[in-house]
Amino acid sequence: MKDFNFYAPTRVVFGKQSEEQLPRLLKEAGGKKVLVHYGGGSAKRSGLLDKVYGMLDDAGIEHVGLGGVVPNPLLSKVNEGIDLCRRKGVNFILAVGGGSVIDSAKAIAYGVPYEGDVWDFWNGKPATAALPVGAMLTIPAAGSEMSNSCVITKDEGAVKRGFNNDLCRCKFAIMNPERTYTLPPYQTAAGATDIMMHTMERYFSKHEDMTLTDAIAEALLRTVKESTFEVLKHPEDYRNRAQIMWAGSLSHNDLTECGLEKDFATHRLEHELSALFGVTHGAGLAAVWPAWARYVMKKHISRFVQFAVNVMGVPNDFSNPEATAEKGICRMEHFFHAIGMPTSIKELLGHDITEAQIDEMVDKCSRGGTITVGAMEVIAPDDMRAIYRMAR
Ligand code: NZQ
Ligand code: ZN
Repeated sequence: MKDFNFYAPTRVVFGKQSEEQLPRLLKEAGGKKVLVHYGGGSAKRSGLLDKVYGMLDDAGIEHVGLGGVVPNPLLSKVNEGIDLCRRKGVNFILAVGGGSVIDSAKAIAYGVPYEGDVWDFWNGKPATAALPVGAMLTIPAAGSEMSNSCVITKDEGAVKRGFNNDLCRCKFAIMNPERTYTLPPYQTAAGATDIMMHTMERYFSKHEDMTLTDAIAEALLRTVKESTFEVLKHPEDYRNRAQIMWAGSLSHNDLTECGLEKDFATHRLEHELSALFGVTHGAGLAAVWPAWARYVMKKHISRFVQFAVNVMGVPNDFSNPEATAEKGICRMEHFFHAIGMPTSIKELLGHDITEAQIDEMVDKCSRGGTITVGAMEVIAPDDMRAIYRMAR
């Protein structure tokens, strides 16, 4: 087991009554003037936003609102938020929504105390300060409510990048699974895919002695798989919505990374797809993963066999590990299809991509050929190109 440093400081307040605790949590976190940040309309339509404003008014907590965050959130909205927070003297940012809203909130939080261009952080500058952020989660998917990551797209040139720093870990995350009943099936399925991929991108590791971490990951993957089928049939199934929501946080708060080095190659390849084509992140992951898996499988057979047997329920054919491993990948593809996810870029976009588009994605993913991605298997620019071609 690799040495590790596990840090998950976010207070999670989970359940049907969790929203009522917002004023207390804000006061404890020192929130006096709050930016309420939200997306394109779902929080308005559900009445959640009005409820939040009502609770803040009743508690005497000043607030300003900023909506309009789009999926794959944009730097232009972040800059609008930074400007608003400075003008209004905001000292706390509350994200009401999913990963896109939370990431936009985190980026604003970095930008308010910083005098330069906030994008500097996505170009490698270390951050030293940030406003505190809290989340009221409405879609289990990105795991941003407990992660140290913040993924933003620079409008100009469609450059999508992540910036990781513990400064932006949410002070609290309020999670009421009932709020996820209104999710369209596609978003439910894409969210489940993202949750599973956060776990799998850690599980597929070159570290083999991971008994406990593996068992947590495998249970999480089986649970999300089973619960996703149930909530797609019965959107108001509290029990299964709750399993998925909690799994979403555990999948990306580094719990399933303890003792190993995460891979995240599929994520890095996908970010170029959602940057270039504006697709839903989870669906993009489903389109890329089978190609990545088949590209690297032969060098890491025992991991793929373990996944096939322990997660996908494939009988272990001891005489033919490669066949067992391949069946695990096939079953994952069947699962993706069964929940309405694509397993190729063509299915994702509805059309083929060109070689020029592949070249652009490889160039951005490798930052002009200067970096590789992945850890279990290092993926260099030529490998990226091969995987995009296999995935198309
Ligand atoms: O904008 P609204 O109207 O709120 O609609 C959203 C959006 O269209 C809708 N939605 C959310 N809650 C809903 C709802 N619709 C009905 N009922 C509800 N209760 O769902 C759509 C997707 O929302 P979004 O926030 O974009 O989803 P997600 O949580 O998947 O976030 C995706 C973003 O997070 C990044 C992704 O790359 C992408 O930019 N990620 C962030 C990570 C992190 N910070 O740790 C890690 C991830 O790997 C990921 O990269
Ligand atoms: Zn993800």
